[in-house]
Amino acid sequence: MMRNKKVLATVGLAALLIAGCTSPPDNAAGSATTTGGASSTGAAPAPAPPPAPVAVSTPTVAAAPDLEYDKAKSLKGYAEVKKLGKNPVAGDIEATKAGATLFATNCASCHGAEGHGDGPAGMSLNPKPRNLTAFNEYKYGKGDLGIFRSIKYGVDGSGMAPWEGRMTDDECWKVANYVRAMQK
Ligand code: HEC
Repeated sequence: MMRNKKVLATVGLAALLIAGCTSPPDNAAGSATTTGGASSTGAAPAPAPPPAPVAVSTPTVAAAPDLEYDKAKSLKGYAEVKKLGKNPVAGDIEATKAGATLFATNCASCHGAEGHGDGPAGMSLNPKPRNLTAFNEYKYGKGDLGIFRSIKYGVDGSGMAPWEGRMTDDECWKVANYVRAMQK
């Protein structure tokens, strides 16, 4: 027993000396420092942490694809979108996640990071960017078709410019998915 302990102590001391070359003895002495590597100053710079994940879920508010779509009747692209009939990626959570990223890049400046219509670039606009989380405040259709049309063709006479040519249809549907998931 005693001898074993001595051997261990010697080995321990050797390890300490070796470890001492790269890290302070305090660390090497065995307090379980799992984060020591990441925070030690000599380590290679860690890659920047990814942005906080956006909460992505399936829509909580039921809405037929064409719910109140007729409110967009006088707006550009109404007939074209009506012909499409439905969102090809409805309910696809991966598409919704991709939509969240697109939203953060392209829409949050006006509609706010969480879609409340409070983005810095929208403050001076009249009309103001819609609070996309407020199910009852949609003016041009609150289902997939209305949202997709608003995105692709925009709203004439407002700050909501068409995204046609800047995003593909597939991307517009993905963002529409995310907007649907934000509605309450
Ligand atoms: C430059 C600011 C700006 C940007 C960027 C912007 N929007 Fe808008 N958006 C607006 C404004 C302003 C309105 C309100 C138009 C109105 O009330 O007539 C609006 C309206 C909408 C509507 C219509 C809601 C309704 O009432 O039916 C949807 C949907 C929408 N935006 C989604 C998006 C999405 C998705 C993006 C990103 C791809 C985006 N917007 C980017 C300013 C913006």
